[in-house]
Amino acid sequence: MTNFLAYDDVTDLNTLIQEGLNAKQNPFADQSLGHNKTIGLIFFNSSLRTRMSTQKAAQNLGMNVIMMNVGQDSWGLEMEEGTVMDGDKAEHVKEAAAVVGKYCDIVAVRAFAGLKDREQDYREVVMNQFKKYAGVPIINLESATRHPLQSLADCITIEEFKVRKRPKIVLTWLPHFKPLPQAVANSFCEWINHTDAEFVVTHPEGYDLAPEFVGNARVSYNQDEAFEGADFIYGKNWSSYQQYGQVLTQDASWMVTMDKMKLTDNGKFMHCLPVRRNMKVTDEVLDSPQSLVIEQAANREWSAQAVLKGVLQGL
Ligand code: CP
Repeated sequence: MTNFLAYDDVTDLNTLIQEGLNAKQNPFADQSLGHNKTIGLIFFNSSLRTRMSTQKAAQNLGMNVIMMNVGQDSWGLEMEEGTVMDGDKAEHVKEAAAVVGKYCDIVAVRAFAGLKDREQDYREVVMNQFKKYAGVPIINLESATRHPLQSLADCITIEEFKVRKRPKIVLTWLPHFKPLPQAVANSFCEWINHTDAEFVVTHPEGYDLAPEFVGNARVSYNQDEAFEGADFIYGKNWSSYQQYGQVLTQDASWMVTMDKMKLTDNGKFMHCLPVRRNMKVTDEVLDSPQSLVIEQAANREWSAQAVLKGVLQGL
């Protein structure tokens, strides 16, 4: 594996899922692989799980880790080419990425969507500029349009908990007052569309995701209908793609409750976290045995380790 930016960088999903499960069984089996290798974790946005799980995975593989919060620990970075840098950004990504690439064997970057300019966000400017100028492999720690390490952890979790070969998986929009990116939902669609599953995406009208991510998933505007017989309910809020970055509704009837979970076939509830309790999903659901959110977050370590192992093997 050279870079890990999206599903397209994966050679074989089942092998990668198995690598994650192997790492979970034996975390230190490949400790020599990362010896004397350094990963730089570059954050433009906050994180709990991604930061800790990727650091832990790198350490399990024997790597050194350098972490940096852009704009707090470092200078603010200009991304656009040919600009007159007379604003608040003191350094251009051309130099910054190239310098980071001299200190690190792998660079991992988190940079969320701005949600103001769809064309700009969907061009993945930050990730592509780091890829262009760092001169070393780049790993996506959640970009404007995707969160592939999360999606791999989700696939590992579904593999562990599925009770039938072809489970019914439902991605449901959840209410939220703040505009949030589409990245987790996009990525979940992209990855689940490559698994053997009955896949349904449900959301209010106006929240359709970009067609290239929805693919062949069935879209329903009726959440109750979508939940019927489901094995997995994956909750996530996202802002509108069509009316880009806008909150069109906060309809509380889309919150996942135990009554909604009763429509499923003893389905499991998943969410990437962080989650706002009793706004997106009730305490009763999150605190029930049907919730997999902690197992899912724990699997972020094994998802990151499987990917880092693949990238290290390609160095
Ligand atoms: N799910 C996830 O990426 O969590 P963090 O934003 O805390 O890293």
